[in-house]
Amino acid sequence: MLKDKHILIGVTGGIAAYKIPLLVRDLKKAGADVRVVMTEAASEFVTPFTLATLSGNEVITGSFPTKRGSNVLIASTWHITLGRWADLMVIAPATANSCAKLAHGAADNAVTTLALALRCPLLISPAMDVDMWHHPSTTNNIATLREMGFIMIPPEDGELASGLIGPGRLPETALLMKAIEDTINRAGKDFKGRRLLITAGPTQERIDPVRFIGNRSSGKMGFALATAASQRGADVTLISGPVSLRTPSHVRRIDVESAGEMHRAVMKHSMKKDAIIMAAAVADFTPVAPSKRKLKKETVGGTPLTIALRKTKDILSELGTRDTGALHVGFALETENDLRNAKLKLKQKHLDMIVLNNAREEGAGFDTDTNIVTILSRSGKIERLNKMSKYDVAHEILNRVSRRLK
Ligand code: CTP
Repeated sequence: MLKDKHILIGVTGGIAAYKIPLLVRDLKKAGADVRVVMTEAASEFVTPFTLATLSGNEVITGSFPTKRGSNVLIASTWHITLGRWADLMVIAPATANSCAKLAHGAADNAVTTLALALRCPLLISPAMDVDMWHHPSTTNNIATLREMGFIMIPPEDGELASGLIGPGRLPETALLMKAIEDTINRAGKDFKGRRLLITAGPTQERIDPVRFIGNRSSGKMGFALATAASQRGADVTLISGPVSLRTPSHVRRIDVESAGEMHRAVMKHSMKKDAIIMAAAVADFTPVAPSKRKLKKETVGGTPLTIALRKTKDILSELGTRDTGALHVGFALETENDLRNAKLKLKQKHLDMIVLNNAREEGAGFDTDTNIVTILSRSGKIERLNKMSKYDVAHEILNRVSRRLK
């Protein structure tokens, strides 16, 4: 699988850098063409000479590489050349400092400069001491990197160089190899030329100019789908309710507020799509007559406030009656009778597939980074997947969409 693939390894300055020669050796054994780029700090832990010997290529250790012994200045845009050459880049180990720089677009050394010029998937394998890993700054930076669509290889739990025990270890080479292989496999671009419409997030139904009825959807599942589909080569339109997530790279995003706006946006963009995936938690009810002015306590007095609600249009059901030519995938969030309800929705909404998650299960549902889903298909097939990251769930869903599109 890795034969003749162009793999870039970015090494930054942490003790785990001592494991990288083994990774380079295994990648070479698997037939990959490997180029190593490292920071100055990394060369305190592992020598460029070791990595050059094992990779069989020159190693870049600074933003201004020069030919040794040469006093002729060569104009070089090496970062652009390598950024286009690569099929995949992995930064391992990625120190807390490097994660901070990557999360904010700094380009002050060879690794961070190259990371900005990439056109391929970037895997980041953070490794640091347990307290640095748990620091809120690191937590924020890792969350930002995930949102931007980079693939994180979480550090392992265990004994660290300091003697402390906890998460922070760079995973063993075999695991890094597997993550690289999986990503190369997915980067197979099976969605190249495919157009996907994905919805995400909650909707907000106005009561008055400052109040709304909403729900707890964070948008993470829909955004993970958009990220994963775009990485597999799809042309993605993402219609999102109000969320605080960054737009994944190369994704066209349309922001909406209410169920009505989402309905209009989906209808407008539903034609000429290969698949429509409705991950949004669309409100089923909206106030009949939202007030133009803020409701005042005094006007309500001591009586209970009653807000009349009407049903919103069911977007998926309406799509089901139209000949969009696309595959229709729905989500179902249930708290009881989940399988029965999901089967019913699959049928009533004329779906090709429905992804069921149970709001009461730990590690599933709203505002978590993981999900536990069951995928039901029109053919009657029911598959319960293990608990995994929403990003991995996204790939599992896309694997099934991809098979049906063939
Ligand atoms: N959905 C939709 N339009 C709506 C409401 C929901 O297209 N007005 C979509 C959701 O995006 C999701 C699927 O329908 O993909 C199921 O949503 P869910 O809220 O679980 O089901 P409902 O049909 O709203 O039924 P209920 O809330 O009664 O369970």
